[in-house]
Amino acid sequence: MSPSLTIALTDLRRRIASARRWAVLTGAGMSAESGIPTFRDAQNGHWAHFDPMALASEPGFRAHPAQVWAWYAERRAGVRAAQPHAGHLALARYAQRWPQRLSLITQNVDDLHQRAGSPGVIRLHGDLLADRWLAPCPRPVVAGVPCPPACAEPGEPPHCPRCGNLLRPGVVWFGESLPPDAWRAAEGAVAQADVLLVIGTSGAVWPAAGLAGQAREQGGFVAILNPQASELDEVAHSCLVGTAAQLLPALLDPLS
Ligand code: OAD
Repeated sequence: MSPSLTIALTDLRRRIASARRWAVLTGAGMSAESGIPTFRDAQNGHWAHFDPMALASEPGFRAHPAQVWAWYAERRAGVRAAQPHAGHLALARYAQRWPQRLSLITQNVDDLHQRAGSPGVIRLHGDLLADRWLAPCPRPVVAGVPCPPACAEPGEPPHCPRCGNLLRPGVVWFGESLPPDAWRAAEGAVAQADVLLVIGTSGAVWPAAGLAGQAREQGGFVAILNPQASELDEVAHSCLVGTAAQLLPALLDPLS
């Protein structure tokens, strides 16, 4: 570790230790060392190979439901096969030691923070492993039985046998609002945070990216942990160059 990185880590640890409350915002880079691709990496990122509007929007899903369903099925299999890494575990150890002090906000739709043991994760972009109906079902309950996803055909998204409604992945797509409760919780956590640590996000997607500016405007110290430059670097007081699995244990284990 370079001397300047060691100094920056020590300073950040001191700020976290004296914070009444602090918050973490994670993005896809948080899961990269668990083997889950990011979105905007020039070589391996999803959006280097695929059109986001085709795979991550309602019009894209309606146009080609089977292809979109298959892409999400593959991503689900990748997430189920992945394991939390040392960075997820370091955050979880800290959160279990100091449950009232840390709020963990994520843009990630995998469940690696939860499986590592972090409690109360605020999920801004939904849950890849959950499904929901594409449209509100006109006949959601018949004879006490909820409208079921009962007729999954190979390669096709399950649809309701009564109304034809399609099941879709429970993630937030482009053009959709964030879950209101999660967004309210995230803004509340940032407003109370003396420190916001932004890990593994390009800062390209709003409104999540705006949390860094909100934290700073409200007097919080903003630090970024990322091996590369991000769109939020100008908002930050400190940029720590490194990966989540390398830096989080070094930062947090002395406090846990
Ligand atoms: P991006 O793919 O845009 O950015 C990933 C960031 O992680 C980049 O800044 C990388 O430099 C950084 N990174 C890569 N490896 C890392 C590592 N080992 N440790 C730390 N950082 C690392 O992903 P997001 O910013 O999360 O939306 O993208 C935001 C949203 O855009 C996603 O939530 C997704 C996507 O469309 C939904 O799924 C709704």
